[in-house]
Amino acid sequence: MTTDELYARHVIPSYGRFPLTLARGAGTRVWDEDGRAYLDFTSGIAVNSLGHAHPAMQKALAAQSATLIHTSNLYLTRPQAELAARLDGLVGTHGKIFFSNSGAEANEGLYKLARKHGAPSGRHEIITLEGSFHGRTLAGIAATGQAKVKLGFEPPVAGFVNVPATLESVQAAVNDRTAAILVEPIQGEGGVRPLDAGFVRGLRALCDAHGMLLLYDEVQCGLGRTGDWCGWHATGAPEAVPDGISWAKGIGGGFPLGAFWARDRATAGGGSLADLLGPGTHATTYGGSPLACAVALAVLDTIEKESLLANTRERSAQLREAVTALASPVIRGIRGAGLLLGIEIADFRWRGQTGPDGKTPALRLTLKLLERGLLVVPAGETVIRLLPPLNVRAAECDEAVTILRDTLALAEPLS
Ligand SMILES: Cc1ncc(COP(=O)(O)O)c(C=O)c1O
Repeated sequence: MTTDELYARHVIPSYGRFPLTLARGAGTRVWDEDGRAYLDFTSGIAVNSLGHAHPAMQKALAAQSATLIHTSNLYLTRPQAELAARLDGLVGTHGKIFFSNSGAEANEGLYKLARKHGAPSGRHEIITLEGSFHGRTLAGIAATGQAKVKLGFEPPVAGFVNVPATLESVQAAVNDRTAAILVEPIQGEGGVRPLDAGFVRGLRALCDAHGMLLLYDEVQCGLGRTGDWCGWHATGAPEAVPDGISWAKGIGGGFPLGAFWARDRATAGGGSLADLLGPGTHATTYGGSPLACAVALAVLDTIEKESLLANTRERSAQLREAVTALASPVIRGIRGAGLLLGIEIADFRWRGQTGPDGKTPALRLTLKLLERGLLVVPAGETVIRLLPPLNVRAAECDEAVTILRDTLALAEPLS
């Protein structure tokens, strides 16, 4: 049976997948089963920070797997201790880390931190923003501010309030049950929408005034993707240090790992927020395995050694400039930070296309780019995301923009 046939027969069809079976990758390139090459500007949705098959990851995987792969969290391991110290150092304000396996699970930890923090004063509600995305667990879809992810999975988990991304709306939603505000500093799935500095500062002040936690979901925008270790710095309000941060995606460069950080600050009960989740309150069998942590340490080391934060900022500027210079009538703008870039597109049709094709503009363009050898990720109906690895080269960015230019030359805007 072909790969397609095996999927159709044996894999639950919960994903709208592209018609492409990938067989291998190296750097910014992947190859399909027939040996055709594609430029990968998806990085497995902002995950493969070092691209495919990076030697530093191969080395860390091989060395650690020959020593100790998994122990559970019944015991201490050196890689977990070192990675926690390293991540805490990157935040620049002292806190402590809990390791999970994915982004949704990292956020679950933040929800539990918020509830535990609010419980003594009867507070449990978490305010999140419309357009946000926080994962596909039941609490994750309740937190997510998009109706489509909730549909058919009612009743929603109680205690989440989704509001428009304005300070007035958040303020109006705060009440004596509110424990925390959770935001993505740059909304990724929602269309690459950075929050602005004034809004983020306002959220920090609101949380301080009401004894609420400010939580950042940096699963997509954190740990280098924006050209900075801290995703919220891209909003222009680096001083708005949160009380909790979730990470996943880029942290393991492709090896599944998630984590959350809780700030070392006093709580109403007297202890530190970083110590609030005491023994027996939260756990996972796999989270923070020596193998995952050794790989994550190698990823962070490589980002530092190869100056990949600087490369991220430089390639970002190059892509923004080149995409803007295309002056295509189909492109409405490019936004984001670092290598988390979103191109807003107008509705369009292909020259010679007769009648509607039932696709969103983002999907229509993504499929054509794939045909022409460039992989990108849609975000919503009108945005395509460029998410190349942090070590993408200048020539690869030129190549991607050339494919985009030649493809857009086949399109005509509908309005
Ligand atoms: C901001 C954000 N939070 C959470 C998640 C969920 O992460 P995961 O798919 O690893 O559960 C995602 C995934 O796209 C995300 O972009």
